[in-house]
Amino acid sequence: MKKKLLLGLKILGVLVLLLIVAGFFGVRYFNKTFLSFEEDYAEVTTFTEVVGEGHTFLDRNGNGKLDVYEDDRQPIDERVADALSQMTLEEKIHLLKGSGLASAMGRTEPGTGIPGAVGTIVPTPRLGLPTIYLSDGPAGLRILPTREGEERTYYCTAFPIATLLASSWNEKLIYDVGNAMGTEAKEYGIDVILGPGANIHRHPLCGRNFEYFSEDPLLSGYMGAAIINGIESNGVGTSVKHFVANNQETERFVNNVIVSERALREIYLKGFEHIVKKAQPWTIMSSYNKVNGTYTSESSHLLTNILRDEWKFEGLVMTDWFGGKNPPAQITAGNDLLEPGTNRQWKALKEAVENGTLSKEAIDVAAGRILRLVFNSKKMKGYIFGNDPDLAAHAAITRKLAAEGMVLLKNENTLPLSNNKNIALLGVTSYEFIAGGTGSGDVNEAYTVSLAEGLANAGFAINEAGQKAFQAHKSTNKEDFKKPEGMEAIFSPFTPPEMSYSKEQIDEIVSSADVGVLTLGRNAGEGGDRVEKDDFLLTDHEKGMIAQLTDAFHAVGKKMVVVLNIGGVIETASWKDLPDAILLAWQGGQEGGNSVADILSGTVNPSGKLPMTFPVHLADHASHANFPKNPEMMSVSGMMKNLVFPPDEKPKAEWIRDEDYTNYDEGIYVGYRHFDKQQMDVSYPFGYGLSYTDFQYGEMEASVEKDTINISFAITNIGETAGKEVVQLYAEKLNTAIDRPRQELRAFSKTKILEPGATDSIMLQIPVPELRYWNEEKKDWSLENGAYAIKVAASSRDIRQKVVIDLGEKAQN
Ligand code: BGC
Repeated sequence: MKKKLLLGLKILGVLVLLLIVAGFFGVRYFNKTFLSFEEDYAEVTTFTEVVGEGHTFLDRNGNGKLDVYEDDRQPIDERVADALSQMTLEEKIHLLKGSGLASAMGRTEPGTGIPGAVGTIVPTPRLGLPTIYLSDGPAGLRILPTREGEERTYYCTAFPIATLLASSWNEKLIYDVGNAMGTEAKEYGIDVILGPGANIHRHPLCGRNFEYFSEDPLLSGYMGAAIINGIESNGVGTSVKHFVANNQETERFVNNVIVSERALREIYLKGFEHIVKKAQPWTIMSSYNKVNGTYTSESSHLLTNILRDEWKFEGLVMTDWFGGKNPPAQITAGNDLLEPGTNRQWKALKEAVENGTLSKEAIDVAAGRILRLVFNSKKMKGYIFGNDPDLAAHAAITRKLAAEGMVLLKNENTLPLSNNKNIALLGVTSYEFIAGGTGSGDVNEAYTVSLAEGLANAGFAINEAGQKAFQAHKSTNKEDFKKPEGMEAIFSPFTPPEMSYSKEQIDEIVSSADVGVLTLGRNAGEGGDRVEKDDFLLTDHEKGMIAQLTDAFHAVGKKMVVVLNIGGVIETASWKDLPDAILLAWQGGQEGGNSVADILSGTVNPSGKLPMTFPVHLADHASHANFPKNPEMMSVSGMMKNLVFPPDEKPKAEWIRDEDYTNYDEGIYVGYRHFDKQQMDVSYPFGYGLSYTDFQYGEMEASVEKDTINISFAITNIGETAGKEVVQLYAEKLNTAIDRPRQELRAFSKTKILEPGATDSIMLQIPVPELRYWNEEKKDWSLENGAYAIKVAASSRDIRQKVVIDLGEKAQN
C-alpha cells in the first residue's frame, strides 16, 4: 500500500516537474516569438546636433556630416532613397515587421515605450531612425491609462462608435472628432491611429458593425474620409481597416469570402475607394479573411492592381494583427508591413530572400513605403509630446457629436420633455450606460456619463422609487456588476442582468414620476458575431417590461419613452407601437448620458438619420442565407492558440459553410438595395430619422455640365423649433438593361442649423462616372446610356422630388 502511494507520489512529482519545464519553455517560446525578440535593435534616442552646410541637423548616424536623409529640407522621396541606399538587406527586412506584442500587453519596462500601444514600426539604430508607435482605434485612442511607478493617468476620450458618427451625416463635425482624436494621438506620442473601420454592414449581426459606418459604401467612404482628414491634419497617420470584405467575426482568421467582382467593386471596395480618393490615408490595414481563396494580405489583385495601380494609393499597407500566413507572399503582393510582428515572420522573410522566393526589389518597395511614413512622422520631425491633451475640450466635442448622431425613431407628442419633470429611469442600462463596444475598438476613458447622471445634470429630477429599485437589483447581483478588466475585457462584453419590477415597485414609480424612460442595452464587440435570439430579438423579459411599463404609465395618462443604447441593429417591428417615443441613442462615448439628456430636454434637436436599414425580420436580409447562425465567441486562449498553431488549411471536404467560407450570394443586394429591389416592408428605412421640427423641400433644379450632374434646391424649416436636416440624393437608372438596384445613394448634405422660417440652399453634385456599374464581361466599369431619375429625399423611402436626366451620348457602353 505504502509502496503504491510512494509510486503514485513519484509519478505525480514527475508530471508536475514536466509541466513546470513545459510551462517554462512554453512561456520562453511565446516570449521569444511574439513578445520581445528585438534585443539587437534598441532605439537610439540621443543625437549630436551638428551645424553643417549652413544647416543645423541631428547627426543620426553619427558620421559628423549631413546625409541627405538627415536633411529635412530635402524632398521626402530623396531622403527615403538615401536612407534605403545606406541600409543593409538585413536592416530592410527587419523593418518589414513590428517588434511584437509586448507593449500591447503592458510589458514594457517602466519609462520606456508607450504602454498599450499595440504595434510599432521598428527603429533602425545604425541610422538613428526612430520607433513609430501604432495604436487603436475607431472610437478614440486606446493606450493603457496607468503606468507602473507613476501616479498620473493617461486616459483618452471615448468618442461615439462609428455607426453613430455615420448617423450624424455631418462631415464637418466628424472632421472635428478626427482632429480631436489626432491631437490625443500626437500628444501621447502615437504616430498612427488604427482606424477608421470602413467595412460594410453586410448583415446586422456582425459583432464589429459598431466600428463600421454603414450598409452603404458612399456614406462609409465619405464619413471615413472626413475622420481621416481630421486625424491626419495633426501630422499623425491613420490605418483604414479591414481591407476588405471582413464582414463577420466567426472564424475571422481563415474565413474565405466567395464574392463576385461586381459586388466587391460596387459595395465592399467602393467605400475604401472613396476614402483613398478623398483622403489618401497614410496606411491601410489588410483584413484577416480570404477573398475568393486568397488571404487579402497576400492578394496582389487587391493590394497592387486595385489599390495602387487603379486608385493611386500612395501609403503603406499593414496586416491586421497576425493576419495572413505567408510573409514572403504578403510582401510580394504589396502588404508592406507585418503587424505586430513575430520572430517567425522575420525568419521566414530572411529565408525567402536567401532561397530566392522573395525579391530584393519587393523588399525595397515595401521598406521604402515604410520609411516614407517614418520620415513623415512627428517623431522624426522632433516633436516633443506633452502627454497632456485637452481632454475637457474633447469631452465637449464628443458630447456634441453624440447628440447629433442619435436618431429619433418615434415621437408621439412626447419629446422634448421640459426639465421640471420627474423622470422614472428604468432598466439596468439607464444606470450602467454603454459608451462603446468591446475589443480593439474600446477606449480607456476616465469616466462614462450614465443617463441618470446626464438627466440630473440637465436639471431633471430622477425618480427615487426607480433608483431604489435599481440599487436593490445591483446589490443582490453584486458579482454580475463587476466589469471585466484587462485582457478579459477584450472579448467579454459587460452585460449585467436586466431588472424585474414588482407590482408594488411599478405602482410606486408610476404614481411618483411624470414620465417613464426605459433604456435597453446591447454590448458586443470584436471576436464574436451577435445572435438572433435574445440579442437581435429582444428577450421575452425585455418585451414584457416594455408592455408592462407602458401599460402602467398609460393607465395613469403618462408617457413612456424607450432609449436604445445599442451598437447594432435590433428588432423593433413587433414592439415599436407600444411606447410613445423611441430614441436610438447608439453608444455615444463617454459623454453619452449628457448627449441623450440634450436630446430628451430639447437642448439639441435630433438630426441623426439611419445609416442602415432596420428590417422587420432578420431573415429579410438577403445576406441572412449565408451568415453564421450559431457563432462562438472567441476567447483569449483561443486567440493565443491561433498564434502558436496558426490554422492549417483544411481539406475542402471538411469546410464548414459560413465559418470556413461564406458565399456572398446576394451580390450587390446589401441593405436597402435589396429591400427596395424586392419592395419589402422594413421597420425603419435607410436614411430615416425624425426631428422636433418639419422641413419643406423647395423646387429642385438639375443640370449636367461636363461630367457632373448639379442639383440645387432650398430647404426651409417650417416648424417651430430650430433644427438641421439631412438631405439625400438617390439615383435610379430608368429602363435599365441590366440587373441594378432600384436606387443608390449618390450624394448627401446636412443643412446648417435653421431657425424656424429660415431657408438653406443646398447644392449637390454627382460625378457622372459614379453612375457606372461593374461590367463582369468587360471586367471594367460601364456607363449606361439614357435616362436616370435623380431623387431628393428625406430618407430612402421618403422621396420628396424627382427629375429625370438624360445622359444621351455621354454614356460610352
Ligand atoms: C483587430 C484590429 C486591431 C488590431 C490591433 C486586431 O485584432 O482586428 O482592428 O487594430 O487587432 O489591436
